[in-house]
Amino acid sequence: MKTLVVNPYLPIPARCTKIVSQTELEKLFRFEFLGKTIQENFDYLPGQFLELSIPGFGEAPFSITSTPTKKEYFEFCVRKVGTVTGALHDLKEGKKVGIRGPFGNGFPLNDLKGRDIIVIAGGLGLVPLRSLINYILDKRDKFGALKILYGTKQPKELLFRDELKAWEERKDVELLITVDAVPEGQEWSGNVGVVTTLIPKVEMHKDYTAVICGPPIMYKFVLRKLDGKLREDLIFLSLERRMRCGIGKCGHCAIGPKYTCLDGPVFSYEEIKNLQGAI
Ligand SMILES: Cc1cc2nc3c(=O)[nH]c(=O)nc-3n(C[C@H](O)[C@H](O)[C@H](O)COP(=O)(O)OP(=O)(O)OC[C@H]3O[C@@H](n4cnc5c(N)ncnc54)[C@H](O)[C@@H]3O)c2cc1C
Ligand code: FES
Repeated sequence: MKTLVVNPYLPIPARCTKIVSQTELEKLFRFEFLGKTIQENFDYLPGQFLELSIPGFGEAPFSITSTPTKKEYFEFCVRKVGTVTGALHDLKEGKKVGIRGPFGNGFPLNDLKGRDIIVIAGGLGLVPLRSLINYILDKRDKFGALKILYGTKQPKELLFRDELKAWEERKDVELLITVDAVPEGQEWSGNVGVVTTLIPKVEMHKDYTAVICGPPIMYKFVLRKLDGKLREDLIFLSLERRMRCGIGKCGHCAIGPKYTCLDGPVFSYEEIKNLQGAI
């Protein structure tokens, strides 16, 4: 996968064309590169990320949540936690940011093609997985069964509600959603319990490929539940580490000998199960 320009340190200007609030803390941002040719030639894999910069505030990495099958724009879904994410949440449609990338390896599409797939997402983990899910749906005949398990802490944290509804209505997708708890005042008639409680509810054979993304705590429990059910080389996890350069130079994202920005963020379980500190 090529980066946008020869110099990977140089941000390319992109304009924000649409902002849609998702929850109290998360917003969906749509961008287009200023140069039409750059936008048309911009290609990436589901699971890759971009570095977004706002002058005067800094730069931060975000997963691309749109699918590369939509060529006219790219999207991020961002939780407001600090300086850059705060400035991004204050951004108005029509304003510009800087973009570097795409970086990272992305989900292994070659290993996924033709296979039955189970996607397991916790919280913000749905953000990169939405790119993969919509990619699969846009190329439906290239993939086997698609099962999606998604959990959030509480109903009001559910992302992409319209898309969840559309996925739920499809006959070629099995979607199960759960919330950890239902605080007073929130409406919910679905499953209650952590995302691992959904695993026994879906039928899977040993050759299913699992793609997992969520908070670090989730991985241990999901892997324990999948233990013995699926092949370790067919379980893929997208890991998040503090990043700066995004291109293997600063060392901020190292897990032992691996750089999350270059070798990852997607790893097979087989690759990292003996790597200290990975999970
Ligand atoms: C590959 C990758 C993909 C990501 N994709 C997304 C995404 O799609 N959507 C999204 O909302 N976020 C994503 N993140 C996290 C995002 O990069 C951070 O939230 C962002 O860097 C915070 O910047 P800030 O300037 O707003 O926060 P700061 O002002 O730098 O920090 C605010 C607080 O957040 C903490 N913090 C900062 N960075 C991180 C981090 N990486 N992990 C945990 N805590 C952190 C700080 O310790 C501090 O407490 C991703 C991170 C990586 C590495
Ligand atoms: S972010 Fe700099 S080496 Fe990975």
